[in-house]
Amino acid sequence: MIEGTLINLRPLESGDIDRVYAWINDREVTRHLNMRYPISRLAEENWLGERAATPLSYANTWFAIETKDGTHIGNVNFHEVHPENRKGHLGIMIGDRSYWSRGYGADALVTFLRFAFDEMDLRRADLTVDADNARAIACYRKVGFVEEGRLRQARYARGRYVDQLWMGILRAEFEALHGRGA
Ligand SMILES: CC(C)(COP(=O)(O)OP(=O)(O)OC[C@H]1O[C@@H](n2cnc3c(N)ncnc32)[C@H](O)[C@@H]1OP(=O)(O)O)[C@@H](O)C(=O)NCCC(=O)NCCS
Repeated sequence: MIEGTLINLRPLESGDIDRVYAWINDREVTRHLNMRYPISRLAEENWLGERAATPLSYANTWFAIETKDGTHIGNVNFHEVHPENRKGHLGIMIGDRSYWSRGYGADALVTFLRFAFDEMDLRRADLTVDADNARAIACYRKVGFVEEGRLRQARYARGRYVDQLWMGILRAEFEALHGRGA
């Protein structure tokens, strides 16, 4: 268990299936994610089973985000880690919409980045976000991510192409904002 201020991070468990299956089939949650096709229960069970059976490491950084009372509200992970370049490309989903805009996403990211910098020895993290995903961009800026580029018409969704922003944060920038680990 990795402790944040509002949340804790823990490994995914196969028992998380009901929530994860509901979230990834909620079109409002996946509106800005690369998940355009509905996902069957079996496909999701297979995916989650494999994640839960794989020890956490550079190759598997999937964490469940839990509130302090143990409610599972979302997931955060690195889609890719490049140990040689000491960087990771991350993704986050607060799947329970009732927890949006209450600071849980930012705290999950600060906690996840603290782990990435202090335990995995990464030096940078980055992400891509739809340019019209205002809540996510506000959350990332609050954490300290800065815009590093604009990928024009990088994603097709809901009948149109949308730009995406490439955002990144360096370990030194993170520590200047959030302090060094204890
Ligand atoms: C993106 C996401 C992880 C952010 O987590 P969160 O817990 O909602 O974010 P936070 O509450 O920490 O921060 C959101 C900020 O955006 C602000 N915000 C909300 N809606 C906004 C809008 N339309 N325009 C601008 N800011 C907005 C909030 O007020 C908050 O800022 P504040 O704390 O200064 O008031 C979460 O909303 C989510 O998972 N959404 C669905 C999936 C998704 O889009 N994932 C990201 C893909 S790149």
